[in-house]
Amino acid sequence: MDRNEPDFENRIVTSAFTAEEENLEPSLRPRTLDDREYIGQTKVKENLRVYIEAAKLRGEPLDHVLLYGPPGLGKTTLAGIIANELSANIRITSGPAIERAGDLAALLTNLGPNDILFIDEIHRIQKVVEEILYPAMEDYAIDVIIGKGPAARSIRLDLPRFTLIGATTRAGQISTPLRDRFGVVLKLELYSPEELAQIVKRSARILGIAIEEEGALEIARRSRGTPRIANRLLKRVRDFAQVGGKSVIDREIADYALRMLEIDMLGLDNVDRRMLETIMRFYDGGPVGLDTLAATIGEEAVTIEDVCEPYLMQIGFLSRTLRGRCVTRAAYEHLGIPLPDKPVQSGSLNGQIDLFEDNEEN
Ligand code: ADE
Repeated sequence: MDRNEPDFENRIVTSAFTAEEENLEPSLRPRTLDDREYIGQTKVKENLRVYIEAAKLRGEPLDHVLLYGPPGLGKTTLAGIIANELSANIRITSGPAIERAGDLAALLTNLGPNDILFIDEIHRIQKVVEEILYPAMEDYAIDVIIGKGPAARSIRLDLPRFTLIGATTRAGQISTPLRDRFGVVLKLELYSPEELAQIVKRSARILGIAIEEEGALEIARRSRGTPRIANRLLKRVRDFAQVGGKSVIDREIADYALRMLEIDMLGLDNVDRRMLETIMRFYDGGPVGLDTLAATIGEEAVTIEDVCEPYLMQIGFLSRTLRGRCVTRAAYEHLGIPLPDKPVQSGSLNGQIDLFEDNEEN
């Protein structure tokens, strides 16, 4: 499999969309920046409100926006909200879907004034396609080559003033020329359990599921900071509640269902535990290189990096160093594995990764 294509398998805590969600998700998606609709991401919301208001006052399109952060945090949702708040049309595509420069040229020339073009996974865009974006973003124009050989000539086509919203899990993989053309760069953070509990309650309301505060919090605590996972777990817990004859999701049934799904008290699943255990048992707590680790546990390196690591780092179980991945004392304690005879990092909570710094060993 291509290194760029995460193999999310059927993992219950995967933050990739599943077919079921593609159908269901729109109804759960917030449509505005209102704090009761779009929960959390306070800083991002505060800044966006100003930029949107200013663009509206000037009657101009919003500056190009780059959204980055781990999968499942609502980047596509946010792009939809921006379009809605601006009363603008949105065209949605993704980096890998744009195969040729001509595909992007066609998309761009079909935009109307103030329209939004959303490109998901923009780090996977091909170089020849990316080069079309530069003049499009900067000068609202593209250069098209007409004809072949000596008779070939380049003509410049003007585009309407539009807004590009790019989304990526890998800000570090975006070339500097492309990154520099985004006037607004926003980093989405993992959500706190309290924020996720609010999201779970909102989703339950929309789906007509009765849930108690403690039930929502239990799901939230075990959703790895990710709304997409929280919404998925809510639906699975509902299955267990229904089959168990419970009309309301409380803490007890949520805990029972999550145990059945082998999701532990912190939201770790088998893949996370296997990864941590492998570093402990085979590599003495680390450091171990990403590719070596991926091969040992039989997962894609990109899945480990994008899906497992952000949360494990957030909760202080893992650190990424120049020499490789290391587990912390807290991870040993959580898994109940004795510490090795060498010093082990104590680990800092909230060890956020800066996705702009792809400076590790790979
Ligand atoms: N779904 C994804 N992100 C969300 C958010 N911030 N609030 C509510 N629902 C969401």
